[in-house]
Amino acid sequence: MAIFFQEKEKVFTLHTRHSTWQMQVSPYGHLLHLYYGRRVEKTSMSYLVRGINRGFSGSPYAAFGEDRGYSLDTYPQEYSTFGVGDYRTGCLQLEHSDGSQAAELVYVSHRILSGKYSLPGLPALWAEPGGDGAAGPEGSKKAGSDSVQTLEIVLRDTALPIEVRLYYGVFEEYDAITRSCRITNRGGDGVYLNQALSMCLDFLREDLDLVSFYGRHTMERMVERRRISHGRQVVESRRGSSSHQQNPFVILCASEANEEYGECFGAALVYSGSFLASAELDPINQIRFTMGIHPDGFRWRLEPGESFTAPEVVCSFSASGFGVLSQNYHRLYQKHLIRSKYKDVQRPVLLNHWEAMEFSFQEEDLVSLAASAKDLGIQLFVMDDGWFGERNQDTSGLGDWQVNREKLPSGIGGLSRRIHGLGLQFGIWIEPEMVNEDSNLYRTHPEWCLRAPGRLPNVERGQLVLDMGRPEVRDYLFRQIGAVLDEGEINYVKWDMNRSLSDVWSGILPRERQGEASHRYVLGVYELMERFTSTYPDILWESCSGGGGRFDAGILYYMPQIWCSDNTDAVERLQIQYGTSFGYPVSAMGSHVSACPNLQTGRRTPMETRALIAMSGTFGYELDVRKLGEKEQEQIREQIREFQRFYPLIHHGDYYRLTDAVKDSVFTAWEFAAPDASEALICVVTLRARSNAPQIRLRVKGLKENGIYQINEEAAHYQGSALMYGGILLPALPGDYQSIAFWVRQVTEKDR
Ligand code: GLA
Repeated sequence: MAIFFQEKEKVFTLHTRHSTWQMQVSPYGHLLHLYYGRRVEKTSMSYLVRGINRGFSGSPYAAFGEDRGYSLDTYPQEYSTFGVGDYRTGCLQLEHSDGSQAAELVYVSHRILSGKYSLPGLPALWAEPGGDGAAGPEGSKKAGSDSVQTLEIVLRDTALPIEVRLYYGVFEEYDAITRSCRITNRGGDGVYLNQALSMCLDFLREDLDLVSFYGRHTMERMVERRRISHGRQVVESRRGSSSHQQNPFVILCASEANEEYGECFGAALVYSGSFLASAELDPINQIRFTMGIHPDGFRWRLEPGESFTAPEVVCSFSASGFGVLSQNYHRLYQKHLIRSKYKDVQRPVLLNHWEAMEFSFQEEDLVSLAASAKDLGIQLFVMDDGWFGERNQDTSGLGDWQVNREKLPSGIGGLSRRIHGLGLQFGIWIEPEMVNEDSNLYRTHPEWCLRAPGRLPNVERGQLVLDMGRPEVRDYLFRQIGAVLDEGEINYVKWDMNRSLSDVWSGILPRERQGEASHRYVLGVYELMERFTSTYPDILWESCSGGGGRFDAGILYYMPQIWCSDNTDAVERLQIQYGTSFGYPVSAMGSHVSACPNLQTGRRTPMETRALIAMSGTFGYELDVRKLGEKEQEQIREQIREFQRFYPLIHHGDYYRLTDAVKDSVFTAWEFAAPDASEALICVVTLRARSNAPQIRLRVKGLKENGIYQINEEAAHYQGSALMYGGILLPALPGDYQSIAFWVRQVTEKDR
């Protein structure tokens, strides 16, 4: 059991292995937050909350006589509202039929269920089916013996018939607690939600930093850490997608926290649209954290009887620094978020044609590139952008999902047969959500775009955005692209999305519902992803958005991997993959070896180094391998063998960051360790050569103290504790951007 309710004190306690979340129904019915942090046994934390009558922090009417210290402005809330005296960030802002905006929520009832709640139309963590209606996705694998429980708390407004159901999913083994909520209009008049965030978490402490992951196209998820100070610090996207610029994953941590030490609280929004995360230090030094759909431009109408479901937030806690926190998310996503069969099935090593030829290719070029790829041991050939419609540049063709016969005379079916005939799998690129004005689709259905009436639209990469909230748009895309998938016997699809949303206005929504268009877009994308991935479960789906512009937990529910960045420069990838690893598993990070000098930066990096960095992800190649010399081709053959040998360790092992890839300027190191500590792979890349360089001893993680290990199959044996606490002595590596890997393997009695 992970969820307890003490009837007398009206205290809810949620336990995971190392953490406790507590809340209490106050004498006035409000649901107060009491505690989230290290596990606390059998104690009500209500003693931490004491009211002091403070000026300009009023009390609810029921409390104002005797209990002036009781204020919604100073008491920690479980789901904050606007307009009734809590002046901190509100989760819920309503607009009733009379124009009033307030809501004051009080407890009605609760249920404790086994298993995990699910959210209609939205991605969410899941658990094995069974137990009081908590459903897992159809066909999903049993998640072993992981115990998962759901708490549902029903609240209602004191004045008007609005009901709010708060959901908590407790994943004991992962130190994770999920949150979501559902708002229902039980009255006879329509109301608006002007803001409906997913969660509020009031920390009864002041000493936390906010770690966020900002970026830009070709440089995503750079780690940034700041002290939470008085007022609000926000991390947000208003772009209609989760964005390159900020990621919907943040960490709040003790100021002394580092990789191995200190309390860390993670929050990941399972959502791919505009989002807001806000950390606010109030005047009496409590921190309110809120997260959910960005309220800017959002306004959702609830007719009588209708409900709105807010996307899920996955919270996790570590008392032992960022390393453990990241591992919690990695394991959780691999077991309880990703559904694709490829989370368990070894994925093929691919070659993507994009950086080799971009739009200029003919069928014969692709076949000859594929033949060379096959010769090197590559298993999957991916034809990227440029194969459909009049797609010879980025200003035309998007939306016309019929093969371009001038480029591919054999059609998709013919080309696919040729590629399969070489002994390779075959994959394609699509960008379903977009349209070029120069396309048959746009000429036939200009009204299918998001576009404000009477206004010239903002254009990005020569394209406009389709209104994915329109069912007929999704049906068209499913039919057209489905026909290609059927004809081509396609094994892999890269689903791209190459611009931010603007001019968001939908031709099918009335004026009072235009504030729904952006969220309806995301729901439409999810519906189409669900349709495609459930109809074609054997396809390996990779998501992309100009590289990593939509790298979020929502997408991982549908697709097991996401192209990490359009920046394929290995040295820059060290930082990008480092930042990404805080919240996402390595198995989700699309990464390829590309040409030297690199297309984006012009940097020259040795082939071994490019491969080692790409191997710390999905691993593939994206260059014209026909142009390589015999030596490099042989290197590729060897790299593929290496990757396949270490695949289980890389994709299913525990990931450790051994250095700070942003701050440490001499070298970067990371590690994969088997969960049973029987082996580990340590990867090191030097960033700059130094004369008479100091000695570096790199301390390994995740071994058995008393285990006996050997390194790279050499004769010498080492105690696990020696390698963990003394380290491995790094040899001098002359030159910049050199790399070295250490395979540390436990020796058995027989080996000794
Ligand atoms: C985006 C992707 C690239 C490539 C191009 C094709 O930029 O991120 O990998 O597919 O589109 O147009």
